[in-house]
Amino acid sequence: MNPTVSSAPGLLLPAADFPPSFKWGVATSSYQIEGAVAEDGRTPSIWDTFCRVPGAVAGGDHGDVACDHYHRMPQDVALIKSLGVDTYRFSVAWPRVQPHGRGPVNPAGLGFYDRLTDELLTAGVDPWVTLYHWDLPQELEDAGGWPNRDTAYRFADYAMLVFDKLSDRVETWTTMNEPWCSAWLGYATGVHAPGRKDFDAALAAVHHLLLGHGLATQRMRAAATREHTFGITLNMGTADPATDTQRDRDAARRADGMGLRIYLDPLHRGAYPQDMVDDLAARGASFPVQDGDLEIISTPFEVLGVNFYFGQDFSGTDEDGNEVDADGHPVVRAVIPDRPRTAMNWPITPERFTQLLVRLHRDYPGLPLVVTENGAAFDDAADESGFVADEDRTAYLAEHIAAVAAAREQGADVRGYFAWSLMDNFEWAEGYAKRFGIVHVDYETQERTPKQSALWYRDTISRHRNA
Ligand code: NOJ
Repeated sequence: MNPTVSSAPGLLLPAADFPPSFKWGVATSSYQIEGAVAEDGRTPSIWDTFCRVPGAVAGGDHGDVACDHYHRMPQDVALIKSLGVDTYRFSVAWPRVQPHGRGPVNPAGLGFYDRLTDELLTAGVDPWVTLYHWDLPQELEDAGGWPNRDTAYRFADYAMLVFDKLSDRVETWTTMNEPWCSAWLGYATGVHAPGRKDFDAALAAVHHLLLGHGLATQRMRAAATREHTFGITLNMGTADPATDTQRDRDAARRADGMGLRIYLDPLHRGAYPQDMVDDLAARGASFPVQDGDLEIISTPFEVLGVNFYFGQDFSGTDEDGNEVDADGHPVVRAVIPDRPRTAMNWPITPERFTQLLVRLHRDYPGLPLVVTENGAAFDDAADESGFVADEDRTAYLAEHIAAVAAAREQGADVRGYFAWSLMDNFEWAEGYAKRFGIVHVDYETQERTPKQSALWYRDTISRHRNA
């Protein structure tokens, strides 16, 4: 390893550990940046509805305008190009493309992504499409949402509308972004849209999100006229026992089961993990599996997108020492490691990133990995010109990119890295208060100003490319 001094003072980075084929990118999602929620035939998504629920989103914020990307797309592509990245990961808004969640395509809505794709290609940036990043058409939620099996079939139809239009120019297709968040936060805890609190509905949502992924992957592959890379993106932390007791080891196993294995086992091995099936049965719950579903869900795919932000420890007792909660279920309590934290109150744990990537390579062999999101929110202070000297975010990125290099050295097949996010944007239940961008957005003027982290990222990419 050959350390090189980076453009941020005091930061060292391995220079030679990424091959020229390694892809560097930046990522966003539709609802978080586009705005223009009622234009060109778009209908409301579950997030438009949820944002109107008093108290659901910090500050009463919503995505009506967001970063106004819908109207500023060419300038934003120029910004992306100026960073020197290989690829840009964006998502397509289902309610723009198919406003009723079923039925005919809306050409005006799809046209936006057609132009975006062309603009990126002209700029020399590879488009990486995510088909679902949480903005379900409200009409489909009204029909039952992800707990309703039919939504999986509706998703595959919608995927084909986008695929038919863009697949001549887009190589890489991610079906779902972070189904754990859609299912768990959306239907069990209710902190994300649609805000339901129903454990059984959340389990059904998990299964139907996975089914939608499999159905869409099969149909896109069957229709492909060229080589494509298909995949899914999962959010994964690490779950370590808080102490070495059997109780805490069980809690960590359960957290890992619900956070990671109930997605990856069916996707990669064609079966839900037996320990989780047993745990769920003990509380009278199960996944609504029908004959043939697991074959569809385990349709082979080429890339696993990894979104990593932090790792946690787990304890099998609550703060009062109880081993079961009020409903009689085993306690699984997250214990935040004693580390510096980001503005999200998330601990900074880069060594667990290495641990996760190596583990994925070991437990799910033959699956190439790409880090489709990694980044941090901090309370940025912009100077008068809008410049943010974000040493904390720069350090976070540097440490986590070094963690990827370390995982690669240990054999993990990691082929790319996307910083989350290109620019400050609508951070879901946290509204605009939490800023993840490497580019600062002044929401009054919509002015974009690259932060120190963006300049550092640009220089880092160019150094690795020329190493
Ligand atoms: C993961 C999600 O995909 C993204 O939308 C979100 O903004 C980041 N995590 C940060 O919370």
